[in-house]
Amino acid sequence: MRAAIAAHQSGATVAIISKVHPVRSHSNAAQGGINAALTDRGDTWEDHAFDTIKGSDYLGDQDAIEYMCSEAGSELISLEHMGVIFNRDDEGRLGTRAFGGQQRARTFFVADFTGQAILHVLYEQLMKSDIRVYEEWFVLSLIIEDGACCGVTALEISTGRVYVIRAKTVILCTGGLGRLFEPSTNALIVTGDGIALAYQSGAPLMDMEMVQYHPTTLKGSGVLITEGARGEGAHLLNSDGERFMERYAPNMMELASRDVVSRSEQTEIAAGRGIDGCVLLDCRHLGEPLIRERLSQIYEIGLDFAGVDITREPIPIRPGMHYLMGGIKTDMDGSTNVPGLYAAGECANVSVHGGNRLGANSLLDTVVFGHRSGNHAAEVARNIPYKDINVAAYAAQEENRFKDLFSRDDGERWSQIRLDLGTEMDRRFGVYRDEAGMKALLKDLEGFKERYERVSVQDKGRVFNTDLVFTLELGFMLDCAEAIVLSGLDRKESRGAHSRTDYPRRDDENWLKHVLVTRAEDGPRLSHLPVTITKWQPEERKY
Ligand code: FUM
Repeated sequence: MRAAIAAHQSGATVAIISKVHPVRSHSNAAQGGINAALTDRGDTWEDHAFDTIKGSDYLGDQDAIEYMCSEAGSELISLEHMGVIFNRDDEGRLGTRAFGGQQRARTFFVADFTGQAILHVLYEQLMKSDIRVYEEWFVLSLIIEDGACCGVTALEISTGRVYVIRAKTVILCTGGLGRLFEPSTNALIVTGDGIALAYQSGAPLMDMEMVQYHPTTLKGSGVLITEGARGEGAHLLNSDGERFMERYAPNMMELASRDVVSRSEQTEIAAGRGIDGCVLLDCRHLGEPLIRERLSQIYEIGLDFAGVDITREPIPIRPGMHYLMGGIKTDMDGSTNVPGLYAAGECANVSVHGGNRLGANSLLDTVVFGHRSGNHAAEVARNIPYKDINVAAYAAQEENRFKDLFSRDDGERWSQIRLDLGTEMDRRFGVYRDEAGMKALLKDLEGFKERYERVSVQDKGRVFNTDLVFTLELGFMLDCAEAIVLSGLDRKESRGAHSRTDYPRRDDENWLKHVLVTRAEDGPRLSHLPVTITKWQPEERKY
């Protein structure tokens, strides 16, 4: 929505296609906040940039990080001016809370539903404009002619009709791929659609092995328990009641970066100091008034999903899949290697998160690079004509695909394959990985793909056919899984979220570089690119 608003303000004719109503998008679940260094409290964007670079384990491109951090303040204020009612401090100024891996509190928040507040305000901006929203439309493929993107084919879910939509430029803002893993903090809709669409169209994906496990996800369901709880002062305890982070990150304790905290928890659990595969998050000392005011959503989540009143007892949590740092390789304008095709937000990798994202930098990434890619895509569109494409042929191609799917009567359903995929990804590509596990996973993936070749859609109707949509999503998920595992096997070191027990150290000499995977005629190809360093040389990372 930020990209659409920017493109619209640049004078472009803009439409949004979304498989759900826009305010149901997964940014809705971003709880804890959005980072910005505001100078009125003595903070600097350079400090924010350094924390982000260190957090990324030096894999983030420093020019992009500098841009994001220097734009953060004005993006935050413009959200406030649009109507996001951020929490205030005692003096009435915009209030902050601490978040992991940062030298100072610079996370601005709306209780523990910041993403929801931002989404609703951006949607209001759309309503004021004449941006057309195709809601509950599902993009099936990108149209590429003469090497350039010139539109999409899409399914109107409510009718089952296929449409071909021409565009001078297309921006993918489709979020991550959390549901490749089970469990995950991500909504069921987060299935890597845009990432797979770009991959299928020949755009390289970068650093796909960098999958973030968030330290505090609820036992069983994997629902997010915001880092904001630790930012407000909550403690992590093992089965001995010990604040174990003292052993792993004596300075930052529970507010070390996410990869460090998740590894520490996993180590405690493996050493037998967990409780049923979890450790505990203790919020009791924060007091009921603070919890009710600033952590109201996780108070409800504790009660509803775990039967735990967090004002009275610690809640069991474990590291859980949360975010993809990797994604479609873009430059700072959001351009991919395919002319006319852009990407922004979690589906993209402009390389501001590198090996590990700091909490509350993801909402920032979406608005800063959404804004910039919207401007650039509009500028490019202004100077090129619409391509004259064969609409009927593209529509027929999709209809044939559906005919084939509908003709299979006795194949397997999508649901069991999706569950098996998610379970194996979590088992073999979790907080710790190794060669044997990833090779086994690659083999499993071959099996899932064979099963998918025979998948059967049971609902033969066209109206609101979610059986069809979920089946198509699974195809996207399998493509993304391939890219993740190949990249994971390639990177033979431990950096950020990619912790290999068989290569336990960071190896700057050989691996201070990005891993790219591109789908070619003869299958996926791996390549590498250097990391952009502006002024912060890699150092040992301690918290
Ligand atoms: O913990 C959280 O509130 C998550 C925030 C984020 O991933 O940025």
